[in-house]
Amino acid sequence: MSELANTADYLVTQKLVKRFDEAVAVDDVSLSIAKGEIFALLGSSGCGKSTLLRMLAGFESPTSGCILLGGQDVAKFAPYDRPMNMMFQSYALFPHLDIWENVAFGLKREGLPRDEIKQRVGEMLDLVQLGAFAKRKPHQLSGGQQQRVALARSLAKRPKLLLLDEPLGALDKKLREQTQFELVNIIEKVGVTCVMVTHDQEEAMTMANRIAVMSKGRVLQVGSPEEVYEHPANRFVADFIGNVNLIEGKLSVDEPDHCAVTTGIGVVSVGHGISGALNMPVAVAIRPEKLEISKTRPDVGFNLFHGTVKEIAYFGSYNTYIVLASDGSRLKITEANTSRHDLSDITWEDQVYFWWDDRAAVVLRS
Ligand SMILES: Nc1ncnc2c1ncn2[C@@H]1O[C@H](COP(=O)(O)OP(=O)(O)O)[C@@H](O)[C@H]1O
Ligand SMILES: [Mg+2]
Repeated sequence: MSELANTADYLVTQKLVKRFDEAVAVDDVSLSIAKGEIFALLGSSGCGKSTLLRMLAGFESPTSGCILLGGQDVAKFAPYDRPMNMMFQSYALFPHLDIWENVAFGLKREGLPRDEIKQRVGEMLDLVQLGAFAKRKPHQLSGGQQQRVALARSLAKRPKLLLLDEPLGALDKKLREQTQFELVNIIEKVGVTCVMVTHDQEEAMTMANRIAVMSKGRVLQVGSPEEVYEHPANRFVADFIGNVNLIEGKLSVDEPDHCAVTTGIGVVSVGHGISGALNMPVAVAIRPEKLEISKTRPDVGFNLFHGTVKEIAYFGSYNTYIVLASDGSRLKITEANTSRHDLSDITWEDQVYFWWDDRAAVVLRS
């Protein structure tokens, strides 16, 4: 296969569709993934992530649309001829081979020199923290450990395109977080382009250079973790990625550099325009950590509202407050315990002020 160095569109899908009978699992997906990128398909269960990945791997054929790798249509290649390696949700290790042999299997088949096989297998087993288990058989490992062996086996072959379906799903939380960083390090070291599937937004945010947020077979937004978090394209993405307060209202001012939205709690100023129609329904999306809260009135001129504290949760380094606003809506506010405002005396049923910077929120049309 020809190589296109440094191309921004190494892996391309064009209007990819997959139907199962009447149901559309993947609906008109066009993506462009750069060489060396770690790209996450993020969405809740059943949204079509695995089906999309399986089409990339060649295990499922598209109903329509096409897939290009390095400028070539991959449709003419059988799965085993594609320079990609997929790790499945349900991984299959060889039960009669020990862990070392499982990881070495593909390398031996490729006929790599013994020293290189030894070095790569050792490196991979270290990565997944199973060096000490090299001589065990798969049934002597836990499910999570087996998943890590499968991961080591996928990476050992250094494929051009690594396809990971919920790669860390079987690991417990602590090991998963640790492995996320290690996995990113090794993927970057190997330089392999990686498409991973996850339903876990933290995992996608931690690992991926860019994320495609999916719902019902469609891609709703593609962007860096920061872009999808700070500038979600719509309510679904805003709500799916992290926590968000969505304040519904109508667009009442719209200038290139600012706009105002008339909402149930009052007029909200936002530091960007949307080139929309006046009075159109919109939502102001504001993250809980971008709201400030205090019992004393702050010296701010706009986006200052008041309400009643209904719930407080302490999480060590930060507190979360649920505040009932004047129109009956509830806002979630988180404050670091290092906040410059005095939070110590805020308690249930207190009247509080809350406010935010006009650049902290975004206006969503849909
Ligand atoms: N082989 C199949 N036959 C029929 N329907 C399928 C098949 N594979 C997946 N689906 C359906 O396609 C949709 C997307 O599934 P999937 O891609 O596995 O979602 P995800 O990986 O995001 O959880 C689901 O509604 C699922 O039931
Ligand atoms: Mg899946």
